[in-house]
Amino acid sequence: MSWSIQKSMWNYGPSKSRPAVRVGHSSIRQAGPVTFPPFSATRVYMEQFYIVNGRVMVDSHLFDWRATLNMMLAGTNAKGPGYIMIDQAELKAGEIHRRAGRHIDGAWNSASTQMMLLASDVVGCAAYVGDYTPNFGADGDAAQVDVSKMERVVLQPNTTYIASPFTTIHESIPVEQDCRRTLVRIHAHI
Ligand SMILES: [Fe+2]
Repeated sequence: MSWSIQKSMWNYGPSKSRPAVRVGHSSIRQAGPVTFPPFSATRVYMEQFYIVNGRVMVDSHLFDWRATLNMMLAGTNAKGPGYIMIDQAELKAGEIHRRAGRHIDGAWNSASTQMMLLASDVVGCAAYVGDYTPNFGADGDAAQVDVSKMERVVLQPNTTYIASPFTTIHESIPVEQDCRRTLVRIHAHI
């Protein structure tokens, strides 16, 4: 996967009277409620869709997901084209559904989408909120970023969260019990 950090998304501290200290800010914002189609082991990787007059237009095989997409995008200023990732998986208690370890996602395939929306029906992701000193490894690995003074937010089910692919540090966390989990991630332009 190719990705890069968009430096313009970072803040640079004042440098007149003291040395410039590069600071990243990780945030995540809770948005509206969301529901999902029944479990069907669907896996879709970053398919393009359009947003026309605030409504999504998708390929026919994603028709069942239109309501979910519209709920996730409701009230946002997202602009298309957007990209959707769907991952429905059967998990055992203690398993991790997606990418473990703290990280940022980064740009996807040079699409340079600035908004990332996440929603799931089972708790399985946590994000970190606050300022940090960027110290990323390969593919956005944030294991070396000091998060000790950041707030850790466990993402709640059936809730849309709005984040940045470039600055929001997050991680998959183990599910508490055997389950079928749906994760939908949207990348869109602002
Ligand atoms: Fe991620």
